[in-house]
Amino acid sequence: MNRLLMLLLVWIFLVPGAAFAAGPSVPLDAVKVNVHDRDALQRGAKLFAGYCMACHSAQYMRYTHVARDLGWSAEEMRENFLFTRNQAGDPTPMGDMMQAAISDKDAVEWFGVVPPDLTLSARLYGEDWMYTFLRSFYLDESRPLGVNNSVFASIGMPHPLWELQGYQEKVGYENKRPVFELTQPGGLSPEEYDSVVQDLVTFMTYLAEPIKLQRESIGPWVLLFLAGLTFLFYLLKKEYWKDVH
Ligand code: HEC
Repeated sequence: MNRLLMLLLVWIFLVPGAAFAAGPSVPLDAVKVNVHDRDALQRGAKLFAGYCMACHSAQYMRYTHVARDLGWSAEEMRENFLFTRNQAGDPTPMGDMMQAAISDKDAVEWFGVVPPDLTLSARLYGEDWMYTFLRSFYLDESRPLGVNNSVFASIGMPHPLWELQGYQEKVGYENKRPVFELTQPGGLSPEEYDSVVQDLVTFMTYLAEPIKLQRESIGPWVLLFLAGLTFLFYLLKKEYWKDVH
């Protein structure tokens, strides 16, 4: 029994600790994520397909599932989300799991590692982490790819959204928070870029826990059902006790 308790304690304290250990030493910026905002989800999905899936898979999710949840027809899916072809050169079937465009072999050749699967990463790291991370790339000549990240130090990934954000330099710290200066502007203003990253994090949050869409919409019905049940029991109780008094 004591051993069981110990195990439980270890689990309670170490598991979040392990997730935190991968976390940042810099304060995170908070982001508002609403997975029920379908427009934001669709915009985020396009970004994810266009800017992340060249290298990353999301192999615990099927294209058909995304199509259903985001309200896209097969045609719209091919337009917005599913551009890849399979090994035989045919368009990737909609029923497939979401695979990266790059092969593992090429990825190892180019980056030294296979980019990790991103299905669950928004849940693993948290929304604020992901939001801050994607806005914290900065130029660093000492790194092989020329960029570093203040949330994920020495990351071996190029800045995937540089066309949108541009490139920034780290010029100092303010209350432990790195201060960046945009030295090479990208296609978007800093405010537009923040909003684009918010959309992307919204999609990644959905990706990590698609059931959220259903669960939260079921919630009110469950409460209504319970309220109805309580009322029924109340009537029943009155009926039973009627003769006692
Ligand atoms: C050109 C290829 C490439 C693209 C495009 C790319 N990544 Fe990466 N990413 C990598 C590689 C390689 C790593 C592993 C880096 C390492 O281990 O240091 C990585 C690591 C990550 C990690 C850290 C995950 C972990 O568990 O270690 C996150 C999060 C991430 N990428 C998110 C994204 C997002 C979001 C996008 C799209 C906006 C994206 N990446 C686009 C190559 C890419």
